[in-house]
Amino acid sequence: MNAEPFAYFLNTTQRRIEEHESTIRRLSSMRGQYHDAAAFDAQLAVDDAVLYEVYMVERPAEDGELSSGLTILHPGKVGDEYFMTKGHFHAILETGEVYYCLSGRGCMVMETPEGEWHVAQMTPGAVVYVPPRWAHRSVNTSDADDLVFFWVFPANAGHDYGSIERQGFRKRVVSRDGVVTVEDNPRWLPPDER
Ligand code: F6R
Ligand code: ZN
Repeated sequence: MNAEPFAYFLNTTQRRIEEHESTIRRLSSMRGQYHDAAAFDAQLAVDDAVLYEVYMVERPAEDGELSSGLTILHPGKVGDEYFMTKGHFHAILETGEVYYCLSGRGCMVMETPEGEWHVAQMTPGAVVYVPPRWAHRSVNTSDADDLVFFWVFPANAGHDYGSIERQGFRKRVVSRDGVVTVEDNPRWLPPDER
């Protein structure tokens, strides 16, 4: 049976997808991901802030289908580390993804299971290609503006969050004297220690 073509409307002014609900990710779901645990606890005690919102136009998990949507990642820091998405590998590792940055300023931190890494800039108009096998995490490096981006990936890819929760990303993005800096993550577990 053929699927029916359809269109949806991505409202870039209001930062939403019309007629769809968003899901939100709060600070409390990021325990262990920011390096400065004391800063994390102190911030959480004051406010379990919404870090980002995701509108997903989800398609059936079948070969050939594509899911797509919009992420709005708010500005902020935990200690010196910029707000970021949780980050994941796709459960079917051999699946890629395309991201298109609509507004804001940030970067995408990527990594393979073998520990290769890459950081791509995300500024309005940037299209970032995430090849198969690369975990990906978006980071908002603006002090004031949301980072807003569209993405599309195979609907049957699935998400593996557990690997990143355990091993972290090799690189983290921090502010050093006001300069956006990519540093080694001291908590990263290299492949031979997992
Ligand atoms: C889907 C994808 C994006 C992210 C979204 C939130 O495969 O990469 O839609 O899911 O930007 O990030 P996570 O899923 O890491 O919380
Ligand atoms: Zn993904």
